[in-house]
Amino acid sequence: MSNSIPNIKSYEESYSNFSWDIPRTELGYSDGNTINIGEYCSDRICKLGYADKLALIWEGFTGEVRKFTFNDIRVFANTIANFLKNLGLNPGDRVCLFMDKVSELYFGFLGILKMGGIAQPLFSAFGPESLFTRLDDAKTSAIITQKKHLHKVRATINDLPSLKHIIVVDDDGTKPLKEREIAFHMEKEERIEKFDSYPSKAETPSVLHYTSGTTGKPKGAQHVHYSIISQYISAKYALDLKEDDIYWCTADPGWVTGTSYGIIGAWANGVTQCVLDAGFKAENWYKFIEKHKVTVWYSAPTAIRAIMKEGNEIVKKFNLSSLRHLASVGEPLNAEAVIWSKEVFGLPFHDTYWQTETGSIVVSNYPEMKIKPGSMGKPFPGITAAIVDLKTFLPIEKKGIVGMIALKPGWPAMFRTYWNNEETYNNKFKNGWYLSGDRASIDEDGYYWFVGRDDDVINTAGHLVGPFEIESALLEHPAVAESAIVGKPDPVNMEVVKAFIALKPGNDPTKMLELEIMNFIRKKLSALAMPQEIEFVDSLPKTRSGKIMRRVLRAKEWGEENGDISTLENDM
Ligand code: WT7
Repeated sequence: MSNSIPNIKSYEESYSNFSWDIPRTELGYSDGNTINIGEYCSDRICKLGYADKLALIWEGFTGEVRKFTFNDIRVFANTIANFLKNLGLNPGDRVCLFMDKVSELYFGFLGILKMGGIAQPLFSAFGPESLFTRLDDAKTSAIITQKKHLHKVRATINDLPSLKHIIVVDDDGTKPLKEREIAFHMEKEERIEKFDSYPSKAETPSVLHYTSGTTGKPKGAQHVHYSIISQYISAKYALDLKEDDIYWCTADPGWVTGTSYGIIGAWANGVTQCVLDAGFKAENWYKFIEKHKVTVWYSAPTAIRAIMKEGNEIVKKFNLSSLRHLASVGEPLNAEAVIWSKEVFGLPFHDTYWQTETGSIVVSNYPEMKIKPGSMGKPFPGITAAIVDLKTFLPIEKKGIVGMIALKPGWPAMFRTYWNNEETYNNKFKNGWYLSGDRASIDEDGYYWFVGRDDDVINTAGHLVGPFEIESALLEHPAVAESAIVGKPDPVNMEVVKAFIALKPGNDPTKMLELEIMNFIRKKLSALAMPQEIEFVDSLPKTRSGKIMRRVLRAKEWGEENGDISTLENDM
């Protein structure tokens, strides 16, 4: 087990004395230098003398384990970077990663950044329509994928003239590749020992992560190479990563946690991390922790609630004594989950709060700090946070009042814009504050308490789903006249998608139709976006201007008051 002295001895002291020069100096960066995440996470660590240290312990769904040193990941990233360059891809081109958690995903991420490309990771469970929307918006030039996902890519390409290369990492030659498709084999390619990384600067675009909003298409939060300054120091202070840790971040790099802390944060610190490319099952997770002697575990409330449901007995079957620090992100972490984990693992889960847009942890419970179960903790050193009034957007000084979480712009990992959507980006700022869109309050001791989102976005199992994307897809179903999508409470996933649907004349609201519609969305978008429940209605509540009032439908699901319905056109 790693030593138990936390990386920050006193939160208050670190917060007061913090300067971004601390991580900049530790990483050897000063203004005007080149800074390339791909190089910082591999070449730099090798140069520091850790070339033979394990960087990645990878386990597949069959139980196969593969181990890679920092020199391996350096060379594999070079090999992919070189391959992309030889294809004619240029710095600034968007290159999508559309894969399960296979090792090529991790090397590919670093490789894209090394050649100066913008990495665009997308969740491999996305269906063709979710994929298309995001590739079309980013005008992506190349996509790296697996054979099993190729059919979804093929379904989109006729309408994507800018997508020039489809790179398949596990082509076995059994089925001929089509136009624009090319095979890439990590093992068979010539190993590129030396690759001159693109000399990116602090503000050079690095990663493009799509996130859902209430209206319109998903938005691409665009990050820059300088983000590593935040990701490095927050992995060290909030996740408490140390040299001899075996760190496991359960998130998929299709979402920001899986890149900021499932790739960059750990490797920037030269820490060994493990990846399990298999579905979720409590027993398998415990086995994984035991087998690889995981010390730091970063997960999500849905997973924690799911393992909690499996009970305490099963935990006792495993030796989990390697664990020393647990953290969570993505949704509200219930007090019960914190108390439970203390009971069964002897360690509490430390809640951390952030967003795709913030790029790194902004509020957190630190190892040395007293946890108040149910609270998200306190602002990260270097982050100025406040609760602002929902109407005036001015900070509320009085404690305990609910407002919106707002952050003073300027920390390194903050997104720089929404791709092609400067207007929506600008709307996120008021009175010099970045508005998170989340409601919370601060208590007398400065702890943040999450209340809820301030929009209609659904947080299911820690993943944001925009109602608009589902409603638009539903309109393509021949029986659907109109629909409204809302979040419905769920004991494990916090929220699941519920659809209110008005049918076109001549269609009966049968069970068959309900299942057919569910499947329609699952295939087109993803299982996350699939309504778990459909309620057929004659009409939907609307404002006078014709906007569907999801708020009213949502309130009904949560057993809340309707709120302001003065502009409602028809009664429920
Ligand atoms: C939204 C961001 C970056 C982490 C993965 C999700 C919700 C996040 C917490 C928390 C309550 C949380 C917020 C936030 N959220 N962490 N600790 N407690 N809610 O990134 O997909 O951009 O979602 O997730 O609503 O705005 P994301």
